[in-house]
Amino acid sequence: DAAGKGAYPHYMLKEIDEQPAVMRRLLDEYLDADGQLNISPELLQAMNAADRLYIVAAGTSYHAGLIGKTLFESLVQKPVEVHVASEFGYHMPLLSEKPFFIFLTQSGETADSRQVLVQTNALHYPSLTITNSQGSTLSREADYTLLLHAGPEIAVASTKAYTAQIAVELFLAVALGRHNQLVLAEQFDVHHELGLVATGMEALLSEKEQIETLTTDYLQTTRNAFYIGRGEDYALSLEAALKLKEISYIQAEGFAAGELKHGTIALIEAGTPVIAFLVDEKTIAHTRGNLQEVTARGAQALTIVSERFAQEGDQVILPSVNPLLTPLLGVIPGQLIAYYASLHRGYDVDQPRNLAKSVTVE
Ligand code: G6P
Repeated sequence: DAAGKGAYPHYMLKEIDEQPAVMRRLLDEYLDADGQLNISPELLQAMNAADRLYIVAAGTSYHAGLIGKTLFESLVQKPVEVHVASEFGYHMPLLSEKPFFIFLTQSGETADSRQVLVQTNALHYPSLTITNSQGSTLSREADYTLLLHAGPEIAVASTKAYTAQIAVELFLAVALGRHNQLVLAEQFDVHHELGLVATGMEALLSEKEQIETLTTDYLQTTRNAFYIGRGEDYALSLEAALKLKEISYIQAEGFAAGELKHGTIALIEAGTPVIAFLVDEKTIAHTRGNLQEVTARGAQALTIVSERFAQEGDQVILPSVNPLLTPLLGVIPGQLIAYYASLHRGYDVDQPRNLAKSVTVE
């Protein structure tokens, strides 16, 4: 029963565990028997005609949009802007001549995102909704829809919708890149690469006890915690910090590691947990430098690092996957850390205070 908890104590843990299966289901849904991506040519043409893609979303979906920007810019060579829906509606930026809008929304009902779609529809700009909910408001009102096929997501803290959104953005970027005969997209073996991600996720999920122990060691009593990273790792830091604050009520923030020294480092005290993502190859050396700066000031450092770059003393090791897909693995320890922090602090994991699964007011 897809909507029941089964043997799981919480929906969130079940939904975290479902992610490898969601990746494989998405491969089945989006790949033909001959390995071609089945995305409608009309959608690809509409996107191709645009000179810029605008991704609009809220919360965790916004964070999936930040990863999408890298995917589209790498594989399609088209500029992308990612916007928080609640800001975009009131301060619409100067748009390019031919914009194309992508709404990322698990529920398809978020009012902040919908009010932007209402405006872009009034301006007759083409749009796509990527959602988990067929027939939802944003799906009905956009020109095109792509589904997440993640199954019902019940826990308020979004997990499998985030990784599904990234996977669907990947399919779209590869299909659009191939449409334009771009080499990187033509050579990107979606089935193989996402298959490795699913296997990597399983490996991480089979070692939950390690994350549980680290979480109790680092986060049992702290008031605050910081996630740091650069590039893709910064986008991951934002999502991991959001998960932690949503359900454990620890004041958690994600920072661009290079910005620490420009202010945030003043917050570091003896014992402050600083969790670093060391996944994005280009930035690892510098982020390690930032970690040294904070540990010299008493921070308790915890590292989440890709196997290829792991050093002695690193704590969480991520299996190696295609560099464009590393956030799909990096987020798993972030989700588990949030889960165990909430659990061990005695909070309601699935129904955190003050939050709603779908926010239908602006
Ligand atoms: C709410 C949920 C978040 C979610 C956000 C956007 O705030 O609690 O988990 O990320 O809405 O929702 P959407 O359905 O548009 O992705």
